[in-house]
Amino acid sequence: MEQIYLCPCHFGLEAVLKRELAGLDLKVTRVEDGRVFFEGDPLAAARANVFLRTAERVQLVMGEFDATTYDELFEGVKALGWEEYLPVDANFFVSKAYSVKSKLFSPSDIQRITGKAVVEAMKRKHRLTIFPKSGASFPIRVAIIKDRVTVSIDTSGESLHKRGYRKLRSAAPISETLAAAIIMLTPWREDRILVDPFCGCGTIPIEAALIGRNIAPGISRPFAGEDYPFLPKKIWSDAREEAKSLVIPDRKMSIEGYDIDGEIVAAARQNAAAAGVQDTIHFQARDMKALSSSHQYGFIITNPPYGERLEEKSELPALYGNMGEVFGKLKNWSYFFVTSFEKAQESFGRKADKNRKIYNGMIKTYLYEYYGPKPPKREYRS
Ligand SMILES: C[S@@+](CC[C@H](N)C(=O)[O-])C[C@H]1O[C@@H](n2cnc3c(N)ncnc32)[C@H](O)[C@@H]1O
Repeated sequence: MEQIYLCPCHFGLEAVLKRELAGLDLKVTRVEDGRVFFEGDPLAAARANVFLRTAERVQLVMGEFDATTYDELFEGVKALGWEEYLPVDANFFVSKAYSVKSKLFSPSDIQRITGKAVVEAMKRKHRLTIFPKSGASFPIRVAIIKDRVTVSIDTSGESLHKRGYRKLRSAAPISETLAAAIIMLTPWREDRILVDPFCGCGTIPIEAALIGRNIAPGISRPFAGEDYPFLPKKIWSDAREEAKSLVIPDRKMSIEGYDIDGEIVAAARQNAAAAGVQDTIHFQARDMKALSSSHQYGFIITNPPYGERLEEKSELPALYGNMGEVFGKLKNWSYFFVTSFEKAQESFGRKADKNRKIYNGMIKTYLYEYYGPKPPKREYRS
């Protein structure tokens, strides 16, 4: 049965997510700020969960309607076909409610009214007043944007950025979905050198290695939807089997991660091992100032400090100035860095060829893109 699913993503990454969905042969029906909708059968939902690198979740859309009063919200939610989806023992709860530019603006009230309406709908079928809630969890999400309500059941459970490999974190790790998206926005391919001189706990190098080896990010993590009667077990095993068949386990790549903090580099190594890609990433403790390479046409993709620790803020202009000098010595390289430091380009000393606004949660960041020349064909092949 074809249904509409909704994938939230970081603001600014909608086009990458849309491209990913198209790559899975899934039909995108709508793109909005921070959300991409697609149409598909239950297998499509499982595949989206297993394969998507840039979506935060995959949510089954139960319905959409307009509401400017709590009565309209209650009646609208109640009218949706909950009893067809939630078994009598379902542990259903509203896990998230938010509103943007709408008359109804209190998340806690939206959450409470939605929850009550679902109970009322369930009473319709089951003739119970209290539900045992002893079965599988069904997190319900409700968003109101410009008075238009979207109600959905989350099929992912833990957010999809949690791939399962990041056991240890740096002080300011980049989200896995954002790291993957940035890599996918660059022309880097697995036969080119990739260096992250500020690698922290290794997220960018690890995501690049997963992309290069075609390892689906959700290949070995669980999803809430695996317990839903309307998403049968077989679709999840089929999606995982498909993912396994596509892995290129022995693809060798030149991926390097450096950080000034030796402890965090040790954590990056452990995370890479947990992701199964430690053999193809070289991690080492090193100050960015020592970065050099005899190779040409490499890529730097990185997330430099942006003042996440207060004492760092005053050091940022000098640090970005050093980056400008050091990166500039690498012949014919391309560099991409994502940061919320507002004077990044000025301090770096060169205007980016392109920049792109991306919201990392509430933080406005920019991806600065500096393009080097393409390698001559012969060199590219070698
Ligand atoms: C924003 S964090 C990067 C986080 C990383 N993307 C992750 O997912 O964990 C910036 C990193 O730069 C490192 N750093 C600060 N100054 C440095 C320098 N001069 N050379 C190399 N690394 C440095 C910090 O230790 C920190 O881990």
